Amino acid sequence: MRKPIIIANWKMYKTRAEASAFCQAFLPLIEGQEKVEAVICAPFTQLDVLASELKGSGVGFGAQNFYPVAEGAFTGEVSLPMLQEIGVQYVIIGHSERREIFHEDDSLIQQKVQAAYAAGMQPILCVGEHLEQRDNGQTVSVCSGQMLSAVEGLTEEQMKTLIVAYEPIWAIGTGKTATAADAEEVIGALRQAIAEKYGREVADCVRFQYGGSVKPENISELMAQPDIDGALVGGASLKPESFSQLILYK
Ligand code: PGA
Repeated sequence: MRKPIIIANWKMYKTRAEASAFCQAFLPLIEGQEKVEAVICAPFTQLDVLASELKGSGVGFGAQNFYPVAEGAFTGEVSLPMLQEIGVQYVIIGHSERREIFHEDDSLIQQKVQAAYAAGMQPILCVGEHLEQRDNGQTVSVCSGQMLSAVEGLTEEQMKTLIVAYEPIWAIGTGKTATAADAEEVIGALRQAIAEKYGREVADCVRFQYGGSVKPENISELMAQPDIDGALVGGASLKPESFSQLILYK
């Protein structure tokens, strides 16, 4: 059984004070729920705030980026041991905003996945296609190419714990959601690509999220799809009310 996992991606939003206020409003709204693994991925400066505010709540927290070397002359970067020192367990890797704006390529993303596993952290690997690629019928080949390149060299045991977020770029922050059926079709194909390379048992353990304009109005239909195990949420994760409604989806 794959546990549903819903992750807030706060991107570059919220001050420390706002992060703290969010947690104080959010935690009572979801108290007692155990159905969903809930995680908040915040900018670096808020991670220690989350460490203290979320302590004992069962809600995890993660970083949105890191550099895959323990230490060194890498001005402006943050390493995994530095994140682990404050209790970070999850890391987003390969988000389309990092691929596009910060020119992260498949080789760096592969190094990051390797580094995350070596450090015992939980990677959330993002893949997704441009609208033009979708229109050309390349969605599955683009996304499976990104995914299989990122996981190169992982063991079967590591593969089983992987989380992959399928985020069509044209659906991020645009209000345009892939239909639940479209998302299921792509994610089903990605699971099949893993089955072909690593076997059905491994493929059945991998958790797939959909991301791109997920909101309280569409979460239930997405989560009802057999291959969709969760959501990676930007805009709708910024307010305690809407993020709690996502966690408590029916
Ligand atoms: P969105 O962002 O929910 O605001 O579309 C999703 C993401 O980029 O992870």
